[in-house]
Amino acid sequence: MGSRIVATGRATPRTVITNHELERRMDTSDEWIRTRTGIAQRYALCTDESLVEVAERASRQALARAGMKPEDLEAIIVGTVSSDFGFPSFACQLQHRLGLNSIPAFDVAAACSGFIYALSVADATMRAGEWSRVLLVGADALSTMVDWNDRSTAVLFGDGAGAVVMVREAGQRGVLGSILRSSGEYWELLSVRNRGIQSPIDAEARANRDDAIKMKGPELFKIAVKSLEDITRKVIERAGVSLDDLSLIIPHQANLRIINAVAQRLGLGAEKVFTNVDRYGNTSAASVPIALDEAIESGRIRDNDLVLLNACGGGLTWGANLIRW
Ligand code: UT7
Repeated sequence: MGSRIVATGRATPRTVITNHELERRMDTSDEWIRTRTGIAQRYALCTDESLVEVAERASRQALARAGMKPEDLEAIIVGTVSSDFGFPSFACQLQHRLGLNSIPAFDVAAACSGFIYALSVADATMRAGEWSRVLLVGADALSTMVDWNDRSTAVLFGDGAGAVVMVREAGQRGVLGSILRSSGEYWELLSVRNRGIQSPIDAEARANRDDAIKMKGPELFKIAVKSLEDITRKVIERAGVSLDDLSLIIPHQANLRIINAVAQRLGLGAEKVFTNVDRYGNTSAASVPIALDEAIESGRIRDNDLVLLNACGGGLTWGANLIRW
């Protein structure tokens, strides 16, 4: 027995912030942002919006496409570091919005790697026979945690949610394997002191600067490239397949230069790498499931394709999932 993704969905907050809008707010330029990151715009959660509501929309879309009702679910797992509350978990808030009771609902906090980690947990638990139908969500709103005066981080992040429905199933298709890694040694490369949504772009009050996201970008960049190459090779090798067998990589969308550098090291052409960082920015744990949903919608993934998901983020955490679609 294994697990298979049978449907996907995605949702964003309603406000689009272009690079030109940021040019008006801080000392930056569309040209710098595009050439250094590949980002042209991002969605930003505003003060009158709720990230749980965004996640609910993505979840309901995935459930409808799976031909399921919320009542069919046996567990909810959310990869997120953006809950409004220390507790209850984001997953419990989402469960309530979906009108469910009693099934297990919990968060996995691995920053940008949250969805990769959550998928691995769901797959292992389903293989063990515990659940048959699971809702898996990646949802984050890191734009609400930046210091809007710090141009080195404020331009990078966007908000959103992606959802998938997984079912327990026998057969050749489904999750072939996952590998997860963390290195607490590097925790100071990317961190935010207080949890929660504090500083949406339209808020009048600004959070204390010390509470905003802190990032050592260039150091993180180098480690991200190395670790993503390494984890991709490892998960491929463990599954007994080769890089040539891969149909598509769906990487975490942090920076187009990171994505391209990893692809180049792996010897993969652009046609094998999905990117949408230009329209979303870095949506943390939401980036892989949003990209997966877009890849399916645009016909880039067909039945029996070999698809690899990978991510690296705060922790540091990194990981990869290999899927026979
Ligand atoms: O999702 C988790 C994983 N995230 C990552 O892995 C992110 C990894 N890091 C990165 O993506 C890149 O390091 C950044 C995009 C954050 C920065 O790009 P960089 O090429 O490493 O630039 P830098 O930090 O070395 O800065 C280069 C220059 C500096 O100016 P000087 O010192 O050369 O005069 C910065 O002050 O660019 C300046 N700069 C900006 N200029 C205009 C930094 N941010 C901006 C900005 N607009 N927004």
